[in-house]
Amino acid sequence: MPSLPLPQELRLPQRPQGLPHPEYTTPRGVSPLVAVREAGLQYPNYTPFTLPNLEEKPFVDRGLYAAPGQTRLLAAAQEVHHLTPEIGTELVGLQLTALTDAQKDDLARLVAERGVVFLRDQAMDVHEQIAFAAYYGDLHIHQMAGIIPDLPWVHPVHKDETAVHGRSHQIWHSDVSYELQPPGLTMLKMDTLPPAGPDGTLAGGDTIWASGYALYESLSPTLRSFLETLQARHSGLEQAEKARRTTGCLRRDPIETIHPVVRTHPVTGWKTLYVNENFTKEIVGLEKRFGDGLLDNLFRTVAEGYEFQVRWKWSPDAVAIWDNRATFHTGIFDYCDPASSPRPAGGPQAERPYLDPNSHTRKEAIAATQPGKLAEKEENKGLDGL
Ligand SMILES: [Fe+2]
Repeated sequence: MPSLPLPQELRLPQRPQGLPHPEYTTPRGVSPLVAVREAGLQYPNYTPFTLPNLEEKPFVDRGLYAAPGQTRLLAAAQEVHHLTPEIGTELVGLQLTALTDAQKDDLARLVAERGVVFLRDQAMDVHEQIAFAAYYGDLHIHQMAGIIPDLPWVHPVHKDETAVHGRSHQIWHSDVSYELQPPGLTMLKMDTLPPAGPDGTLAGGDTIWASGYALYESLSPTLRSFLETLQARHSGLEQAEKARRTTGCLRRDPIETIHPVVRTHPVTGWKTLYVNENFTKEIVGLEKRFGDGLLDNLFRTVAEGYEFQVRWKWSPDAVAIWDNRATFHTGIFDYCDPASSPRPAGGPQAERPYLDPNSHTRKEAIAATQPGKLAEKEENKGLDGL
């Protein structure tokens, strides 16, 4: 991690009651992987503890306070690279820990628009990561994933010879979509890369994101109109059952929730597809064979719409911040035991998903405000096929 002086004090969320290993404290400025192991604890830790069931609560997205064009953030970056036309932007020359609140608000809007924002070489320990994420809302604690014992908001994504979940993350999904208020902005920071290159070099474990906005607006107007009438059942029951079977660590009553198939993003106002292969089990009110056929086609569109995806190659201390409401993602498990790839993730709960009938697709909204820009883009697209 690049060395920067550590701030004296950070405001972290209040810890819930009954955390396991109350004697353990994560030291500042070191890898939680190293610290937990040195303390003789499991990483990530699956020691069971219980949490109250989640209840609906108000949420206001900080992206609503962004400046037009996110100028306060982007003017401070040395370079801004849009990695694909549809999704993914890399910012160069910024340290997240040094951002002002105004710049953090701009970042929320940039992530909402571009789906995922990347930064490399972030001097940010896990405490700072939590404090940063907590600016955007109440941090989510996963119903069954491993945690760092004293920092339960962190979900260590980890695989080594002790991993019990194998390849379960290699499936396109939106995190915990079965919840009433699934997380919005979500952050992942690379701790240790797998030495999975052919000569033992650091390689492997990339992550791919796909844009829900772009996928949705690629569908025909007729299909989009139909999808906007539908709701789907998202389920956390299978995941809970797996937890009972493997680690015995389930912290809340597992739930299923009905969400609209198309939701509106509260900051951009754009419509996005909101069904995913991991957790969406059924279209409500359709015969099962029709609903399953429809879902299967939508899942295939997510997986095979390469022009709507961005693949990120990690480096130590790289950070990804994505909008879990408007994107799908999957890890790539091309590294083998005993290689390890720990990366702490965390994010705040967002609003309950909704569809605003007056909202638009992204392209419709851009065309309404900048008609020339979109027409020019479409014209250029046509030339690509020549
Ligand atoms: Fe995920």
